[in-house]
Amino acid sequence: MLRETSSRRRMAKAAAAVLVVAGLLLSSSPSPAAAAGRGGELRMKHSDGGYSYNRTLAHILVQYASAVYTSDLTSLFTWTCPRCQGDTKGFEMIVIIVDVENCLQAFVGVAPDPQSIIIAFRGTQEHSVSNWIEDLFWKQLDVTYPGMPDAMVHHGFYSAYYNTTVRREILKAVRWARKTYGRLPINVVGHSMGGALASFCALDLSVKYGSQEVQLMTFGQPRVGNPAFAAYFSDQVPRTIRVTHQNDIVPHLPPYFCYLGEWTYHHFAREVWLHETIVGNVVTKNETICDGSGEDPTCSRSVYGRSVADHLEYYGVSLHADSRGTCQFVIGSTNTAYSSILEVDRTIILARYPQEWQSVESI
Ligand SMILES: *[C@@H]1O[C@H](CO)[C@@H](O)[C@H](O)[C@H]1NC(C)=O
Ligand SMILES: *[C@@H]1O[C@H](CO)[C@@H](O)[C@H](O)[C@H]1NC(C)=O
Ligand SMILES: *[C@@H]1O[C@H](CO)[C@@H](O)[C@H](O)[C@H]1NC(C)=O
Repeated sequence: MLRETSSRRRMAKAAAAVLVVAGLLLSSSPSPAAAAGRGGELRMKHSDGGYSYNRTLAHILVQYASAVYTSDLTSLFTWTCPRCQGDTKGFEMIVIIVDVENCLQAFVGVAPDPQSIIIAFRGTQEHSVSNWIEDLFWKQLDVTYPGMPDAMVHHGFYSAYYNTTVRREILKAVRWARKTYGRLPINVVGHSMGGALASFCALDLSVKYGSQEVQLMTFGQPRVGNPAFAAYFSDQVPRTIRVTHQNDIVPHLPPYFCYLGEWTYHHFAREVWLHETIVGNVVTKNETICDGSGEDPTCSRSVYGRSVADHLEYYGVSLHADSRGTCQFVIGSTNTAYSSILEVDRTIILARYPQEWQSVESI
């Protein structure tokens, strides 16, 4: 479903090209001054109620966003994989979900610090990250977000979360975790495409459990919806940090054109932009906490987004697949860590809870 047919895509590209040309004519430079003066703020309001960026937390959560790329599901489940070390020690996996058909991977587990339920989504596994990025340029705002007449999102991102087995399994795991471990808060994380899915998941859980229970942190995520969606999102998921890195290209896509009103993509707040500041000969790592608009012109928008390398590393942690090829995964034969392995609708589910729980209705 993430793959459109080529003719549809060509049509979409042609249509989008017109918009892009118009957009380029009107706003060809990322100049902070120009952008700041014109509608960059739209009608976003500061609704994060004092929620602030915690660097220590970011350094921990990025490791979960990295670990979810592990294709050896046994070592991921037992939390013995090379990326399952360090600050994430003591993490207990509850479920790993691999949607083979749509090439998605996510997990849910419980962490000792921050003591919470952690939900992590993997980014795209398609053979070429560059192809995926190129495609991002042409994504249309083609779905109205349910219950929000003006809020538009991209169908592919939306349905990757809402219209796959992933959502049902995540809700089930969260319910089991809160029943078993107590009413823990929930941290949702994801990188790249996984950041887009994480956003929808955090929104879903906020509506279900209350926005004080859910925190979202994404790394190098693309834009997912229009200004109305971004405003709605900020109200519902105020505890959101959207980390961007230097010249990472993905946060620049699909493009934002402030002149297109509700017909443009628009990020939600709050961005934290990791970049280097050079003063004289000294290079300093800088983390800029951006404004509440979602499209702060002094953050990543102040530079051209053209780096794939910057996309694949955050806080010095690698965020990409550990093996070549698409959607590969390996399950070892010798282990007892998971109580059940199930295949439902071309989705592999490894779970700590017993088979009986699998059939429990989740909503
Ligand atoms: C930041 O997060 C770390 C890790 O969860 C936590 O130990 C620390 O108390 C937090 N700091 C603040 C100021 O909330
Ligand atoms: C959901 O997925 C099914 C099958 O995968 C498809 O037929 C249906 O059109 C999808 N619905 C939406 C809203 O994307
Ligand atoms: C960090 O970057 C911001 C711009 O995003 C700049 O205003 C600030 O001076 C920089 N801080 C340092 C210590 O270089």
